[in-house]
Amino acid sequence: MLLSLEDLTTVFPSASGPVRAVNQVSFSIDRGEVLAVVGESGSGKSVTALSATRLVPQPPAIIESGRALLDGEDMLALPMRKMRRLLGRRVAMLFQNAFAALHPLRSIGDQLLETIVLHREVSRSDALRIGVDLLRSLGFVDPPALMKRYSFDVSAGDAQRAMLAFALAGEPDLLIADEPTSLLDAVAQDEILTLLKQIQARTGMAIWLITHDFGVVSRLADRVVVMYGGRAVESGPVDALLGEPRHPYSRGLIASVPDANARGRLRQIPGEIPDLARLPAGCAFRARCDRAQTRCGSDEPVALPVGDGRTARCWLYSDAA
Ligand SMILES: Nc1ncnc2c1ncn2[C@@H]1O[C@H](COP(=O)(O)OP(=O)(O)OP(=O)(O)O)[C@@H](O)[C@H]1O
Ligand SMILES: [Mg+2]
Repeated sequence: MLLSLEDLTTVFPSASGPVRAVNQVSFSIDRGEVLAVVGESGSGKSVTALSATRLVPQPPAIIESGRALLDGEDMLALPMRKMRRLLGRRVAMLFQNAFAALHPLRSIGDQLLETIVLHREVSRSDALRIGVDLLRSLGFVDPPALMKRYSFDVSAGDAQRAMLAFALAGEPDLLIADEPTSLLDAVAQDEILTLLKQIQARTGMAIWLITHDFGVVSRLADRVVVMYGGRAVESGPVDALLGEPRHPYSRGLIASVPDANARGRLRQIPGEIPDLARLPAGCAFRARCDRAQTRCGSDEPVALPVGDGRTARCWLYSDAA
């Protein structure tokens, strides 16, 4: 096992009480595995990743409890100096907006070489060779020309492919990609997804993929975690989970996607995500659930096994239900 999150909880203080953005989340990622995390906006997908890597700003965030074990070592307990060294080398991040990540007044090459020098501890001339090879492997026909350019001068797709080069510069074991293609047109999106798949197959790098798009999930993921209201409510292998979701929330999300290969965005489920500062007793999905029972109003569901290495936090699957 490469990464294991155990009962991770992150809160944001607010006037109406602590917002439980990440609520006792547990899941793991094997070496070379692609794990997709899906869920509506505000369900805690990004804050989970930012907490595990200590990139969430503290304050305002408070990582209240939990562990994030990378090869058995708790990233949450590492001295910050060691954590900074680890980021980029063993765990790298790819975000949605490449233009926000790139410095507008420095050339792409200048920034890339700096990143390579930092993570690989090589000379500037070795970094240049590595950078050119890296960009070529990502489909850039003329890497030196790209390196001379500035972020405002390239397309969104090229900027995101360049960001992928930054992420791969340290040869990480795990890439955390948060909505890496959601701002791109279909062609650029396809290009990035194909590259991610190729890199993962070639290098055995694991990917923690955060997305709204079930088309992306079915193309890339081995396993899926569904988040709702700060909780991981269901997890399992991609085909089983997309084919036969168990949690009523997952069923609602997946219901409108005609088949696993179709491009499909998450469907709107009637009702709203509960106020994370005033979570109701029992199951947070209860008010929107068409299968709710009396017990759901008082007892918070625990993660129950639902077959084939799958779990669901839902009382439908308790023997007592
Ligand atoms: N800086 C912040 N201050 C206060 N609360 C925050 C902050 N960042 C996130 N939150 C809270 O954490 C919750 C989870 O946010 P998060 O960004 O993880 O959602 P998400 O699932 O990534 O959504 P999206 O799909 O829109 O990216 C939000 O609903 C919000 O209430
Ligand atoms: Mg997010």
